[in-house]
Amino acid sequence: MAVLGIESSCDETAAAVYDGKRLLSSVIASQSDHVDFGGIVPELASRAHERVIWHTVARALSDAGLGREDIEAIAVTEGPGLMGSLLVGLCFAKGLAIQWNKPVIGVNHIDAHIYATFIEEQPQLPFVSLVVSGGHTQIFHVTRPLRHTLMGQTRDDAAGEAFDKIGKLLGLAYPAGPEIDRLARDGDPNFYNFPRAMMKKGLDFSFSGLKTSVLYYLQDIPEPERAAFVSEHLNDLCASISAAITDVLIHKLRQAVRKTGVKSVIIAGGVSANSMLREKARKMAGELGASLHIPHPKYCTDNAAMIAVTGWFKAREGMIDDLHLKPYARFQWDKMSG
Ligand code: KG4
Ligand code: ZN
Repeated sequence: MAVLGIESSCDETAAAVYDGKRLLSSVIASQSDHVDFGGIVPELASRAHERVIWHTVARALSDAGLGREDIEAIAVTEGPGLMGSLLVGLCFAKGLAIQWNKPVIGVNHIDAHIYATFIEEQPQLPFVSLVVSGGHTQIFHVTRPLRHTLMGQTRDDAAGEAFDKIGKLLGLAYPAGPEIDRLARDGDPNFYNFPRAMMKKGLDFSFSGLKTSVLYYLQDIPEPERAAFVSEHLNDLCASISAAITDVLIHKLRQAVRKTGVKSVIIAGGVSANSMLREKARKMAGELGASLHIPHPKYCTDNAAMIAVTGWFKAREGMIDDLHLKPYARFQWDKMSG
């Protein structure tokens, strides 16, 4: 049973085909229109999706060596994400479903990040999954595909959003996460002790205070010296900021593993590419006697392979939608599987 997956929730237009055993294709068209604006501009994102979606889907089918008759169902991201961007993917998927006479399956983008790990391996169930990206920071307890409970989530900014917003304060281009990661490798994580929020308050996160703390830290440096100070200590600042973010993520993840007693830990989402997070996660897993799984970076950032896989799981369980499928912008627990 081959499922075509379509993803357009943010600034990547993607399509992929998965048949339950193998990923047959995965195509991603990334947008670069936003770099000059220091963040994603929703209207530009929708227009760019519109421009490339047809070619992206056609390419995914030809790479898979399949035609419309081989596709059993069309899975598409229904939310959360940018409304205009979601609408492009959803309308396209519905049009294709009508034309091809195939069922359409709405996939929750966060469900998809959790199940991205199944693209290349079969992790031992149950597991705990940390989904950490520009839009989400959540911990789930997963007992089997499509069965999970939310254990904790951010109350304000996502971890990737914190990297990006703090990077902007330091004068780095959007998205700043990868650059902060690179610079941090040559810096001292103990250069400055930025706050670690909510360490003793359950499994929820808060990252907006860290951003404010970096802002005040920089404002305390007299204006004429500020730029030179940041430039001289950029590596150390990036390392200290990365240490603050990753300490909180690992602390909560460790608590979640202890609480559930699982033997596998998954980290997914764009921030899982972070080298300090990976190193600390590896150490934590070793200490807890758990196995650590992090999908390949190309399946951690937004992609359609994870949509196709999750759609395949849903199709297997007969979870088919109809053309009334509607997009939703915000994270809603009742829109997830589980
Ligand atoms: O999953 P993703 O591609 O898109 C969302 O759904 O948000 O994640 C993008 C986020 C951005 O905030 C980016 O700065 C962050 O992931 N990111 C990183 C790294 N690579 C990507 N953050 C820290 N270190 C990295 N190496
Ligand atoms: Zn995402």
